[in-house]
Amino acid sequence: NIKACIFDLDGVIVDTAIYHYKAWRRLANSLGFDFTEQQNEQLKGVSRVRSLQLILGWGGITKTEAEQEQLATQKNTWYVEMINQMTPAEILPGAREFVQSCRDAGIKTALGSASKNSMTILEKLQIVHLFDAIIDGNKVTKAKPDPEVFLKGAEALGIEPQYCVVFEDAIAGVEAAKAGGMKAIGIGDPKVLYEADLVVSGLKEMTLDKL
Ligand code: BG6
Ligand code: MG
Repeated sequence: NIKACIFDLDGVIVDTAIYHYKAWRRLANSLGFDFTEQQNEQLKGVSRVRSLQLILGWGGITKTEAEQEQLATQKNTWYVEMINQMTPAEILPGAREFVQSCRDAGIKTALGSASKNSMTILEKLQIVHLFDAIIDGNKVTKAKPDPEVFLKGAEALGIEPQYCVVFEDAIAGVEAAKAGGMKAIGIGDPKVLYEADLVVSGLKEMTLDKL
């Protein structure tokens, strides 16, 4: 009795983590330190300002709020330069097909992302039309694991939370879905996303009968 599917963007529809990592690393390097890909894992699903605070912490650096604002803007400028080069070839395997199969079956679809760059990415991938509602970082005030982004998605679709399933690659995202009273399907490692109702390696593994 699932009536709506809500998709996270980064790590579910497209793998932008590498671009976030490159841009954050460039920023860290400009401040005189570096961080590993493993540390970068901790930034998945985490908001822009919170990510910066974690990174500054790794470098043992303290910055004022105004300086943080400027650094986050610098990172975003570099990030946007990279995502502007994206093409539809970068859609993760099976993602377009699964979202389309939901639509064909009469299931509503929404995007529920923390990113303020969601629209740019969807446009570059040419998949804006696959979503009945788009809720992103520009429309929410509380970051995941707060359920706000998904609750707003459900509301925009006119579907009650218990009939929604969320697709998420981040622990905080799975927690947000559960906190919102929704079903959560994890994309990634079942040991990491153990709070999800089901975990698959990617949308290529998803079929409607698994909902
Ligand atoms: C999430 C990403 O989807 O969006 C995070 O997983 C990112 O890595 C966050 O920090 C915010 O994105 P943006 O594009 O607004 O900086
Ligand atoms: Mg994600």
